[in-house]
Amino acid sequence: MNKTLKPLFACLFSGLICTGAAAAEPQVINIKTDGSSMVMSVTSDGEVLFHHFGGRIDDATPVTGIKSYRRTDHGTDNLAYSTMGGRNFREPALRVTHADGDMNTELRYVSHTTRTLADTNVTRTVIKLTDTNQALDVELFYTAYAKENVITTHAVIRNREKGSIVLHSFYSSSLPVKARSYLLTHLYGAWARESQVDHTLLTHGSKSIESRKQVRTTHTENPAFMITLDSESFDENYGEVIAGALAWSGNFRLNFEVDEFNVLNILAGANPYASDYTLGAGESFTTPEMIYTYSSEGAGGASRHLHDWARNYGVWHGHTYAPTLLNSWEGAYFTFDAKTLTEMIDDAADMGLEMFVLDDGWFGNKYPRNDSNAGLGDWQVNAKKLPEGIDYIASYAHQKGMKFGIWIEPEMANTTSELYEKHPDWVLKASERDVVLGRGGTQVVLDLANPAVQDFVFGVVDNLMTSYPEIDYIKWDANMSVQNHGSQYLTKDNQSHMYIEFHRGFEKICQRIRAKYPDLTIQACASGGGRANYGVLPYFDEFWVSDNTDALQRVYMQWGTSYFFPAIAMASHISAAPNHQTFRTIPLKYRIDVAMSGRLGMEIQPKNMTEEEKALCKNAIAEYKTIRPVVQLGDIYRLLSPYDKQGVASLMYVAPEKDKAVFYWWKTEHFCNQHLPRVKMAGLCADKQYR
Ligand code: DGJ
Repeated sequence: MNKTLKPLFACLFSGLICTGAAAAEPQVINIKTDGSSMVMSVTSDGEVLFHHFGGRIDDATPVTGIKSYRRTDHGTDNLAYSTMGGRNFREPALRVTHADGDMNTELRYVSHTTRTLADTNVTRTVIKLTDTNQALDVELFYTAYAKENVITTHAVIRNREKGSIVLHSFYSSSLPVKARSYLLTHLYGAWARESQVDHTLLTHGSKSIESRKQVRTTHTENPAFMITLDSESFDENYGEVIAGALAWSGNFRLNFEVDEFNVLNILAGANPYASDYTLGAGESFTTPEMIYTYSSEGAGGASRHLHDWARNYGVWHGHTYAPTLLNSWEGAYFTFDAKTLTEMIDDAADMGLEMFVLDDGWFGNKYPRNDSNAGLGDWQVNAKKLPEGIDYIASYAHQKGMKFGIWIEPEMANTTSELYEKHPDWVLKASERDVVLGRGGTQVVLDLANPAVQDFVFGVVDNLMTSYPEIDYIKWDANMSVQNHGSQYLTKDNQSHMYIEFHRGFEKICQRIRAKYPDLTIQACASGGGRANYGVLPYFDEFWVSDNTDALQRVYMQWGTSYFFPAIAMASHISAAPNHQTFRTIPLKYRIDVAMSGRLGMEIQPKNMTEEEKALCKNAIAEYKTIRPVVQLGDIYRLLSPYDKQGVASLMYVAPEKDKAVFYWWKTEHFCNQHLPRVKMAGLCADKQYR
């Protein structure tokens, strides 16, 4: 890495360098990490053009004569932030109707600054742009993380016009890329089969990845991707790869448009779908952050950069191992009393687990939570099930030397709840329409745009933590997507702000929680992997990959997850056989080996395990504690993909010092009278001897 390329940037788009007389040397903006550069230039007429995102360029002295890539008939395809207007015909990053009805925006350079932040690993460049005709300014922020080789970017749109303007599109970034071919790798799936890997060779035209579900956005698509450049095949170790991930948990859209000159324009941001945003005079709009990395070492290099960045900057407590745990869900579901739980704790402690998590079903009195159809919103302990209280269970766990965690779903209510009886106006609902109901036939989503609801949701956590300071961990669930497209809080003119304001409300709540409870460990769960993204992870420690705990299917899901997210954030549990989702029986050793490649936990009724099985788990848990630093903080090297259909999957984690490594090898098929595929280890140091 750290290639020094000089002077290179113009050649990436050399086929496009246009006609026009040589002008004064354009000003160059070179945003650098240790191994990568993003290079832009300012043309003599003030357009900011994007030239290069790739290997580091130390001296980006430009080739003179670049006036603009503008072609009279074909438009400009490498604007650093594309807009509707002028000669841009591609889907724009920014589309505005101005106060006077003008639909055009043509941004021109005003200034730029670069400064190193208090964390000297981080440099921030801000490019100021303004419209040629309207009092509209855009600031592009680029934050470069030197060691991790990550550059994040977002835009701030400021309305200085005399009246309100409407933002129709407001992407976080537009990234033009020039290569011979583009292989898109992304995740797709559904509930119980999240994070499946898909490779698509981009052809001319557009391909988009998006969500309109607002809450459980990452079951189906994930706002993260890799683009392999100049190759039609995906490679783990070689070749150039650009990877991106959007830090937004609401509706998102990533658009990949390959134009007639084979330039790929990548747009990434909050989804403009049904989200026209009216920005009053003097107001500004900040887009979510888009995270990019470049690797010259294939997909593996891109993952390692993202994982490093995530542990250092993108995940709450990115360097603290979440404890091994027993979660009560698959072992007890809604049916338990204190005896059930304390017996589970006894068994968990005997096996060496470090925490017990009480899942759904512990709350609600008038509408007890004995099933999924009642009680959400009424966060008081169910006196019938647990007359001894939560503190009794928490203290019991603590006496056994274990931590204690609890499940909540604070953004939701059931219509069968005291909360809904008192505040029917607190739920998302379109005016004059019947409310659409979710899980259990009674679930609704609270309107997080409403500050009173934000206080309530914050209060759910705050009250629990003040009443039961023994709580060490919260599993924050969300089991409904937005199916009622209306806010009872926003005015009728601002209904299209709902998705944005809902997410901002969610972020405000998270910020308040983290300001008051920095040490609390919080898991993001949304019916499994509905919230696996860097929009939530700055506030959460980990996420639940899937409600499907079938170990063989987890191999595929966790493999996909590993492209973008580090093992420290990936909760993976040993569950019963036959499995509760697939009804398949998989040997316990296999279930253990899969769970041990993420944050190990158990989700089982230990009472139903044999002594031999418990002993095997005890041994594995003890062993996991010794390898955990390497698994959770090490560098991933994926060796054999389960998607390559060779009947096996294999990966390893290598400690940064390269003195230790953990190697995993799982069969995904049976082998009869066949050789097993050869696996070549990676990431080790040739000078060392490993035992
Ligand atoms: C969905 C989650 O993904 C499960 O793990 C469990 O917590 C249930 N909700 C509880 O209702």
